[in-house]
Amino acid sequence: MVSHAGFHSLHEETTASIPVRGDLPAWLRGSLIRNGPGAFSFPDGSDVDHWFDGLAMLYRFTFDPGDRADSVSGGDGDAVHYRNRFLRSDAYDAATSGEFEGGFATGETTLRSRLATFLAEPYDNANIVTERIGDEYVALTESPRGVGVDPNTLATAGHVDREGDAPSGQLSCAHFKRDPATGALVTVDTEFGRTSRYHVTAWTRDGERRHVGSVDTDEPAYMHSFALTPRYVVLTEFPLRLDPRRFLKPGRQPPFIEQFEWEPDRGTRIVVLDRTTGDVVADPTTDPFFGFHHVNAFERDGGTEVVFDLETIPDATAIDSLYLENVRAGEMGTMAGRIERFTVDLGSAIGANRYGGGDAAVSRERLFDGGSALPTASPARWCRSHRYVYAMGMDTPVTEWARRVVKVDAETDAVRTFDDGGDYFGEPLFVPAPDGEAEDDGVVVTVALDVDAGRSRLLVLDGETLSLRARATLPHAVPFDFHGRYFPELRAKPAE
Ligand SMILES: [Fe+2]
Repeated sequence: MVSHAGFHSLHEETTASIPVRGDLPAWLRGSLIRNGPGAFSFPDGSDVDHWFDGLAMLYRFTFDPGDRADSVSGGDGDAVHYRNRFLRSDAYDAATSGEFEGGFATGETTLRSRLATFLAEPYDNANIVTERIGDEYVALTESPRGVGVDPNTLATAGHVDREGDAPSGQLSCAHFKRDPATGALVTVDTEFGRTSRYHVTAWTRDGERRHVGSVDTDEPAYMHSFALTPRYVVLTEFPLRLDPRRFLKPGRQPPFIEQFEWEPDRGTRIVVLDRTTGDVVADPTTDPFFGFHHVNAFERDGGTEVVFDLETIPDATAIDSLYLENVRAGEMGTMAGRIERFTVDLGSAIGANRYGGGDAAVSRERLFDGGSALPTASPARWCRSHRYVYAMGMDTPVTEWARRVVKVDAETDAVRTFDDGGDYFGEPLFVPAPDGEAEDDGVVVTVALDVDAGRSRLLVLDGETLSLRARATLPHAVPFDFHGRYFPELRAKPAE
């Protein structure tokens, strides 16, 4: 069987200045930094079993529109400056010296290795996303141990642990959420114990960390992300649960993710926590479902309704689908999601019981069920109501990677689609025009894999129409990656 493209190892690290076909907007002068699993096999012949366990590789794309002030034809001199580099984490050192012990879903664990990974030196293969915390750029994974990165060279700069008095835990949501109005960067960590707790903390714009609130749970759930509004943090506690007592039993056990069990009878608990008081104002339980990515959230009707968009997956078998032997065989099973809108009516909860809130009504509306992955919204709309969601478009049932980029209009249900005659696409990110008026005034940036050419391309699409504006062909084929961030402050060096 022919192995599915995009799950190969990329051992090459390189830099290149690449001419752009088409033209870049003059305002697009910052950098896109993406993370993903760059290598699945190592020099000693060992390898990992799961897509999530590939060694973290960082990619930087710096847009350089050139100086077109005197040009009427446009496009002359536009370039993208590209660099890719492995993160030199402890996991990287172990894997490249024959001492790799496994990761998220690879390798048996012992009590000793579980405790070591959890307590002494949390797992640091930070292949999911890079965030800016204060003035630091930090590569992140699902442990509270970030890895600092020089955003210009992509050189690894040492570990960034949780500092300050605010509580932390052993497991973290890989996705932080930023409130653009205040600059606060909110995160959720899980502390395992006799009573386990989710700790919500936030960094201020200056990088000071403070405690927002904590929520007790009897069996912690696997949560990859959460939702944020100006007043609330929303946790969706899926019924994929881990029993801490089992986790701490001596003896050999399966890898980390296989210790979570799907318990649909528990339903999905939605916890709404007040960011100012730390109080839980509602925690209704609704149908069982699973998901990785909250797209965005906002308040409605004077703050009495919390609305969040979440890409749902029927159950946790999506994680099994992403074992490399499955994805390489094109057996991606249930990994395609649906984009759904959830509304929690706080009015009923707060009116009934200030701290109980178990009766808050939850309604659920489908925005897009054509098959999606890695949905995003404009960062200019984070914590505010948004109209558009961008995502990879998947066929359902899934037999191959995403062949499309989709733009979903949550007001009209209209869907725009971009495909490029056979490319496979990664996560699309919207970059708003600095002085734009419409929500979709800007561009969508994504990386596409051209299998025939054996090359990946950075694509710049029009945010409104999804038509192709510009493309830059990279010197190699990039394995499918996870998430990126656009940093407008990381600008191209001015031409000499
Ligand atoms: Fe993610």
